[in-house]
Amino acid sequence: MNVSPLRALLCSLLVLAVPGTLCGEKSMILLPDPKTKGPISLEETLASRRTHRAFQAKPLQLEDLAQVLWAAQGITGAGGRFRAAPSAGALYPLDVYAVVGEASIQGLDAGVYHYLPSRHGLERIATTDLRKETARASLGQMWMADAPVSLVLTAEYSRIEVKYGSMGRTYAVMEAGHAGQNIFLQAEALGLGAGIVGAFDDAGLARVLQLPSTHEPLLVMPVGHKR
Ligand SMILES: Cc1cc2nc3c(=O)[nH]c(=O)nc-3n(C[C@H](O)[C@H](O)[C@H](O)COP(=O)(O)O)c2cc1C
Repeated sequence: MNVSPLRALLCSLLVLAVPGTLCGEKSMILLPDPKTKGPISLEETLASRRTHRAFQAKPLQLEDLAQVLWAAQGITGAGGRFRAAPSAGALYPLDVYAVVGEASIQGLDAGVYHYLPSRHGLERIATTDLRKETARASLGQMWMADAPVSLVLTAEYSRIEVKYGSMGRTYAVMEAGHAGQNIFLQAEALGLGAGIVGAFDDAGLARVLQLPSTHEPLLVMPVGHKR
């Protein structure tokens, strides 16, 4: 008997009952399914989107984090090949990391998490609250540390350079812009706010977050309840 599909089904049922459940392989956290309907129109989110730099010390629901991650790089459509943001040649050079604070996301411990689009899950890569260190590496923009979570968009250029050569870097940067706007609009549609930070010490931030050496940070987006 092939146990993998059965285990996947059991994991899905478990995560529906208890969102944030650790399931499957080591440290893999399955996220609640994304929603494709919401109470606010796209036009309203466009009209009200702003860069937010002040956040309440109020935790987010795991569903909210899951939804924002899905908007950034989640799988859409049948077949699992395409994502919510476009990618040149569908090569997807971006990764998303979540820097989660202590008592900041209901059901999720502090740390740094890597979003896995194909599983709509999280893999924990660091186990402490690194929001202040992230803000310090972002040229001391300490307001960032008040947000319950900051999403970090990184690019692995080799994935896209294989087809587009030196243009691959430009395309990856453009793609981060698409994913960033998706994060902004999704946060707004959830009644939350997002900021955006491009001013940081690249090597310092990568070191703080213990990123793989090939994943280069492009944008940091704090997300939380607006203050
Ligand atoms: C690529 C990029 C990098 C940015 N970097 C920062 C930053 O490091 N710190 C900051 O406070 N705002 C940053 N911003 C936000 C801009 O200041 C903001 O988008 C601009 O003032 C327009 O305001 P709005 O986004 O509310 O419309 C950045 C925006 C972009 C697009």
